[in-house]
Amino acid sequence: MSLPSRRLWLAPSLLSADFAALGDAAHAAESGGADALHLDVMDGHFVPNISFGPALVAAVRAVTKLPLDIHLMISHPLRYVGAFRKAGGDTLVFHMESDDPPREVVRAIRDTGAAVGAAIRPPTPFESVEPLLPEIDEVLVMSVHPGFSGQRFLPEVLPKVRAARAALDSMRSPALVSIDGGVVPETATEAARAGATFFVCGNSVYNTLGRVDENLARLRAAVERGARDGVP
Ligand code: DX5
Ligand code: ZN
Repeated sequence: MSLPSRRLWLAPSLLSADFAALGDAAHAAESGGADALHLDVMDGHFVPNISFGPALVAAVRAVTKLPLDIHLMISHPLRYVGAFRKAGGDTLVFHMESDDPPREVVRAIRDTGAAVGAAIRPPTPFESVEPLLPEIDEVLVMSVHPGFSGQRFLPEVLPKVRAARAALDSMRSPALVSIDGGVVPETATEAARAGATFFVCGNSVYNTLGRVDENLARLRAAVERGARDGVP
């Protein structure tokens, strides 16, 4: 008997792409088999780095049909959710550690019509996001300290992926469990085995070692392998 299969999403992170050729990077992801694009918004306050804002999201929106998963690494998500929705974000993912009250942020995102994601940094316990699970569409477990691409995966976050999977399954929620940071084929398999269903991939998709479609094919095989051995 075959196991019920969940959809597994590969979401290349444009932070690792060539910023002078983002249209090409988006097209390569779309034609190479990606399921979504992940866009990392950083304000130089919540994290030390500064990346980009709504204008860039709108420019990417104009060149792809892929869903856009907007990761708001910013201190005041309430101020900006309207702008990122207007720019074309399909899911707006805020951080539980931001300065705004999480329930207000959830409501504000919902009011824009976007799907709602909530992210936790590596030191933040799963229990911080647990009460929000019935109200959200994506739980994003960070597997590096937010701010930069190309860091090493922190395996100690995997118990949070398992906890999120178990909690969502117990409430029969279709919400996605995302893993973000240091996702390469080996760690993607581990994360899929733990129950992740949405895989943010920066340097493992955009690099000089292989073409985007080849890299995505390797990641696809890796997550399918993990999902097969993992939870039903
Ligand atoms: C880090 C970002 C990640 C980053 C992932 O703060 O949230 O989305 O782009 O890049 P890799 O996959 O290279 O770790
Ligand atoms: Zn991210």
